[in-house]
Amino acid sequence: MSDHIQIERQGAVQTIRINRPDKKNALTRAMYAAMTKAIVDGDSDASVRAHVFFGVPGAFSSGNDLQDFMAFATTGTMGSEVIDFLIALVNAKKPLLAGVDGLAIGVGTTIHFHCDLTFATPQSFFKTPFVDLGLVPEAGSSLLGPALMGHQRAFAFLAMGDGLNAVEAKEAGLVYKLVETEELESTVLRVASEIAAKPPEAMRISRDLLRMPREEVVERIKLEAKHFAERLQSEEARNALMAFLTRKKG
Ligand code: COA
Repeated sequence: MSDHIQIERQGAVQTIRINRPDKKNALTRAMYAAMTKAIVDGDSDASVRAHVFFGVPGAFSSGNDLQDFMAFATTGTMGSEVIDFLIALVNAKKPLLAGVDGLAIGVGTTIHFHCDLTFATPQSFFKTPFVDLGLVPEAGSSLLGPALMGHQRAFAFLAMGDGLNAVEAKEAGLVYKLVETEELESTVLRVASEIAAKPPEAMRISRDLLRMPREEVVERIKLEAKHFAERLQSEEARNALMAFLTRKKG
């Protein structure tokens, strides 16, 4: 598994920490696989009652590793790790919480469409530059985004790639509460423990009732993935990826 994903337990709360600070927490295939395993294992362990995602200071995640995208664009082989992770998110049986500080880009943003509660610090920034990369929205965001924030905000966010600062993300419903940096993790863990202390079966059913039907979301994820994979091999995407990977730093 991946050293860049750290799994810990605080009582009945399982934390999944993305920990690859030198690459701003970009997600590799091994990291997706490790997160999928954590969700599935935690779901089948009765002593786990909630999952929490954390990043590192300044970076929740800069999204999919663009080297991995480039490898797929050139070889055509991607593996199933990303889609397995997205489906595990949809199928998660226990509440999903997240604490965000700093960058949340691409899947680092769309993961929050699946979270039940996301807390963010004031300096957090959410952005999905899919179209600028020659790509399309993923993780069911094309379905969940408009349902959450309305078509026009979702279009600006998911198709135009307009970023949302922390306040805007909260207004759009992607973030539940803003929390000062030094209180972020303790707040998320406290709320996760409160959730964990509630009757688990009533919580499970209530959560399921509140969420969009899983089949519908999985179907959309698969449709997006089909377009995404095709787009990744397009000239538009290859040029955009090459521009990032060969950029000169000032
Ligand atoms: N994939 C692979 N590497 C990434 C990455 C990603 N998604 N995001 C950042 N990195 C790497 C950079 O290449 C750099 O590596 P290096 O030091 O070996 O050159 C390191 O992380 C630090 O990033 P840097 O760009 O120097 O930091 P920054 O603070 O100036 O900018 C970002 C941070 C995240 C805004 C910028 O790196 C970026 O735009 N990344 C791409 C985000 C993206 O498009 N994600 C996919 C969405 S679908």
